[in-house]
Amino acid sequence: MRVYRKATEAEARAQPFLTDVESIHNRIRRKMKRKMAASGPDRDAVRRMLEGVLAAELAWARRNRVQGTSARGPATQWFLDQARAEQTLAERLAARIEELGGRRPARRPPRRAEDGNERGLCARLREDLVAERVTIGTYRALLRLLGDHDPDTRRLLEEILAREEEHAEGLVGLLRDARYCS
Ligand SMILES: [Fe+2]
Repeated sequence: MRVYRKATEAEARAQPFLTDVESIHNRIRRKMKRKMAASGPDRDAVRRMLEGVLAAELAWARRNRVQGTSARGPATQWFLDQARAEQTLAERLAARIEELGGRRPARRPPRRAEDGNERGLCARLREDLVAERVTIGTYRALLRLLGDHDPDTRRLLEEILAREEEHAEGLVGLLRDARYCS
């Protein structure tokens, strides 16, 4: 599994959301790699992986809410729809974590997801697309690691991955839209 390098301070300032997403995904990948080496995709490893995925989905839901309130035109509704869908998936992840013996994690908002709005929507859309590709890469890697273990979790992850792929397509569409990016 490829582990992304840590962002420099300047990058973190310039693209705070992407930096947050990368650090969440680095954590998921590192933990999963360690756990897999120790015991394979057992219940505990899967639960920890889902905790990371939940943190990522909550960060996305918040990001899209913030994007929705600062965008104009049809993009506003699109962002808010994404946020709602991510929130629903986050609820299902939390439920699965409980089924696997974990505790429903406290909803802690990511550190700096709302920063960087002064850069304009187009720059933030580009940042989101890179972050979305990091997200998709991690979920694909997790599915490979999971293999045929835990079909319930596998289905949930597959559903999340499909949504992320749609999300990426939507971002590409907005980036091509002259109202938002030219
Ligand atoms: Fe997404």
